[in-house]
Amino acid sequence: DEDPRVTRIKRSIRVVPDFPKPGIMFQDITTLLLDPQAFKDTVDMFVERYKDKNISVVAGIEARGFIFGPPIALATGAKFVPLRKPKKLPGEVISEEYILEYGRDCLQMHVGAVKAGERALVVDDLIATGGTLCAAMNLLERVGAHVVECACVIELPDLKGRERLNGKPLYVLVESH
Ligand code: PRP
Repeated sequence: DEDPRVTRIKRSIRVVPDFPKPGIMFQDITTLLLDPQAFKDTVDMFVERYKDKNISVVAGIEARGFIFGPPIALATGAKFVPLRKPKKLPGEVISEEYILEYGRDCLQMHVGAVKAGERALVVDDLIATGGTLCAAMNLLERVGAHVVECACVIELPDLKGRERLNGKPLYVLVESH
């Protein structure tokens, strides 16, 4: 009863043990990208879900949100806004810091890219602890946008990242334990 597209997407993701460090089971979506049908199915499943939701902005998180976000934006008629790591964007930015396992990181967005009242979809490849998606949503909400949902290809449910999203809906295609 599983959607055959989900089966194919799951099979196309390579899990690399101990990368980038011991104990991490890295979910490698580059192998999904090598399977044009799996890549198309991934984009199609998101587009089906969001095409009639009046999304005006797809915000993609660096780096792998830049792979899945743009085709979703094009197919739904939304603009694409990159949420970038520090010192990459040339214009005026707003910043959100977030805590990592060791240390901290930051996402930035161009001021003026998203206007108050816009309906936003946040896209990334994977949710682990949820810190990254939480920072992304904060950026959008600070400029008055409405975050309709967050969308990821993969969720690591054991890390309970969903609980950090303050009740915002999260849609994922694949869970990995
Ligand atoms: C990964 C992944 C998400 C984030 C999820 O990115 O692509 O963006 O971690 O983790 P979290 O839910 O615990 O916040 P990574 O940190 O590897 O950065 P990169 O895409 O720039 O390599």
